[in-house]
Amino acid sequence: ALTKLYDNHGRHINYVRLAVTDRCNLRCFYCMPEEGIKYVSKEALLSYEEMLRLMHLLADMGIEKVRITGGEPFVRRDMIYFLRQLCAIEGIKKVNITTNGTLTEDLVPELKSIGINSVNLSLDALDKDRFFEITRRDAYDKVMATYRALLEHNMPTKINAVVMDGKNIEDIIPMAMLTQKDPVSVRFIEEMPFNGEGAHYETLAWNHRQILKHLQASFPDMEKLPDPPYSTSYNYQIPGHKGSVGIIAAYSRTFCGTCNRIRITPKGMLKTCLYDDGVFNIRDIMRQGATDAQLKSTFREALGNRAKDGWEAERNRSFGLPVQESMSTIGG
Ligand code: GTP
Ligand code: 5AD
Ligand code: SF4
Repeated sequence: ALTKLYDNHGRHINYVRLAVTDRCNLRCFYCMPEEGIKYVSKEALLSYEEMLRLMHLLADMGIEKVRITGGEPFVRRDMIYFLRQLCAIEGIKKVNITTNGTLTEDLVPELKSIGINSVNLSLDALDKDRFFEITRRDAYDKVMATYRALLEHNMPTKINAVVMDGKNIEDIIPMAMLTQKDPVSVRFIEEMPFNGEGAHYETLAWNHRQILKHLQASFPDMEKLPDPPYSTSYNYQIPGHKGSVGIIAAYSRTFCGTCNRIRITPKGMLKTCLYDDGVFNIRDIMRQGATDAQLKSTFREALGNRAKDGWEAERNRSFGLPVQESMSTIGG
């Protein structure tokens, strides 16, 4: 019988974000420094077998949706082999992927056929030079080829664009214009201070209000769409356009009240909140020989001790303090 998972504040948990690696072949400056970060060793990563075991257990416990993140998921060898088995797990209704698209073009038909539900493509600029400036790698053509392949194969697609003062403001309107002909959701994201270097902003110049104002200046008749439950984005549509535009207030808005998600990091830390340091290491517990029943009760216990409002706690704790963490070790 299917159980439902609730935390100690009555929030229904049905979604896990699984970061399958912290490695990446780009160096987006809002995520990693030029020299990269100190990567987790291969042995320290959760193996595919370990991840599949965990996802089976979590599905038993009522998890219905898995988002694969990283790092860049497809730098991990045989990712498709893992995804195929993940999609086959009973109870997992949706498997979504967040990718930078550099290695994804040829895999799109297979992703579609194994049952991947949707793909979020990180793309911060349509201008090739600005793309290079942001990612520090010459991968623009590959990413755009992936974008076209996704649409060609009718894969539901969202674009993630982190909005950065002085870096890609000129790209906002052209990117919103992609929605005219393409059935894509283009989401503009507030930059969060997870860049691996501790760079930090006292105030964010391009917050969600500023992004909206900027869009409305070019598209005054943009209409608010109803947001799906648990949506991270506020969604809009430019009349007559096939796709939609979204704004993710990742930095200035708290999602805590309706938070339905947990996170597992590449080395197996369970995070019950984006802002906690990890509650326990599930990899270690598995490698010490825990039974399925023991693992399940460990998860239940963690969810019984979940922070009510990690975002606010983090604000109070770290106000003015830099965060050293990179997004690629958390999975976003
Ligand atoms: P869904 O939950 O499937 O809608 O995922 P998504 O589309 O939001 O996920 P994606 O991996 O594409 O992330 C988009 C942006 O939202 C990234 O910048 C994430 O870091 C951010 N994000 C995702 N979940 C949370 C959250 O719980 N809190 C905050 N502050 N940001 C989040
Ligand atoms: N702020 C906001 N979003 C970020 N991402 C990576 N780093 C940051 C950051 N510092 C986004 C990526 C990817 C998603 C998982 O998180 O663009 O699309
Ligand atoms: Fe790689 Fe994504 Fe980080 Fe860019 S944001 S360096 S694509 S993990």
